[in-house]
Amino acid sequence: MTMDGKTVLITGSTDGVGRYVAGRLAAVGARVLVHGRDRERGAGLVDEIKQAGRGDAAFYSADLSSLAGTRQLAQAVMADHKRLDIFINNAGIGSQTSGPQRRTSADGHELRFAVNYLSGFLLARLLLPLLKAAAPSRIVNVASLGQHPIDFDDVMIAKGYSGSRAYAQSKLAQIMFTIDLARELAGSGVTVNSLHPATYMNTTMVRASGIAPISTVEQGGAAILHLAEGDDVAGKSGLFFNGMNEAKVNPQAYDADARQRLRALSLELTGLA
Ligand SMILES: NC(=O)c1ccc[n+]([C@@H]2O[C@H](COP(=O)([O-])OP(=O)(O)OC[C@H]3O[C@@H](n4cnc5c(N)ncnc54)[C@H](OP(=O)(O)O)[C@@H]3O)[C@@H](O)[C@H]2O)c1
Repeated sequence: MTMDGKTVLITGSTDGVGRYVAGRLAAVGARVLVHGRDRERGAGLVDEIKQAGRGDAAFYSADLSSLAGTRQLAQAVMADHKRLDIFINNAGIGSQTSGPQRRTSADGHELRFAVNYLSGFLLARLLLPLLKAAAPSRIVNVASLGQHPIDFDDVMIAKGYSGSRAYAQSKLAQIMFTIDLARELAGSGVTVNSLHPATYMNTTMVRASGIAPISTVEQGGAAILHLAEGDDVAGKSGLFFNGMNEAKVNPQAYDADARQRLRALSLELTGLA
């Protein structure tokens, strides 16, 4: 897919693999909507992209730990753009970010579920008109091989909490949403896929967990770029990739009832029901 004139939103592109992917897509001509919380780092990346003289960039600030902040981001993007060719849903917090303890979002939801999953669910749904206007267009959900089934009696993990379980639950939720949305969007020209970019890339999230990185943002970035612009995945939807290769996921994602429960809950929690 040629990137010239294409508009791409990448959440969490002020740092880590998102920042790398933003630079790469701008370098081949895309207009990149950089998102993060830190205005200084956002402005720095926008300047870098503009000075490189190929694609274009603009910064959007929003805290995705609040549904109001998430809605504001969608509204700002919709105010400035009539179409969105690629939405890379990448922002996230790790299993140990700011400590492994249970915390809640501005809306009272378990924080990893809220930031890693619910905000992306809401953004994707709010931005669908722009994605449909740009069809063929793509949604890429940056998930993980770390996957834990959702206990629908305790989605906010009030009991038996661990940062790892919460992270892995949020990542499986992204994958279940990917399959669910792909079915809904069949025939619309909008595809949606998810992936594990690479294992323990050298990013803030991994360094915060005290784990020695074993891969690079270039490796993980290549896997994200593959789903965002690769010709071989054009028209493919509802799939999960481990790096560059299609892979199976936790069995709960193949359970249509579980996906339906997650969809109903997510619509309710985000006020879209
Ligand atoms: N690193 C790995 O090995 C690995 C493996 C599998 C999957 N992943 C996934 O890859 C994605 C990117 O991770 P990374 O390793 O590049 O992490 P990172 O370097 O820590 O970057 C995370 C990005 O998300 C943003 N973010 C975090 N919380 C936010 C919030 N409440 N509101 C708005 N933005 C927020 C951060 O913004 P700030 O700069 O403001 O914090 C940053 O731009 C994540 O979804 C992660 O789960 C990573």
